[in-house]
Amino acid sequence: MYKLFLPFLIFFFISTLIFSEEKKSRDGKTVYDAACAICHQNGLAGAPIFGDKSSWGYRVNKSLDELTYSVKNGLRGMPAMGLCMNCSEQELEMAVSYILDSL
Ligand code: HEC
Repeated sequence: MYKLFLPFLIFFFISTLIFSEEKKSRDGKTVYDAACAICHQNGLAGAPIFGDKSSWGYRVNKSLDELTYSVKNGLRGMPAMGLCMNCSEQELEMAVSYILDSL
């Protein structure tokens, strides 16, 4: 009985972890407002501006993956993770999508 119960318990524990992780995930706007807007709303430190396509220039031709990679690792004036230290890669990607939707 115990031997059967243990894998079940482990499965339950892991799925709880996964689902609670999912619940914590913030959407693109929430992440953008909290972490990215400080630079991207007005172009601080030379950041390309939210909703202003011309300021994005050649970047609009980059893929979502490439742009998310830049945020995760930092790019010149932009610190790694866009200063959202507790962001998951998925959250960063959603924030990038949110910015791209504005252009
Ligand atoms: C401290 C200011 C700052 C913060 C905070 C910041 N950025 Fe940036 N970001 C910049 C600057 C400056 C650039 C331009 C970098 C360059 O090309 O020289 C940039 C560039 C980018 C680019 C273009 C990257 C590329 O490959 O050309 C994306 C996408 C981006 N930021 C998204 C984000 C997101 C999403 C966040 C929030 C999670 C964020 N940024 C937070 C300053 C910031």
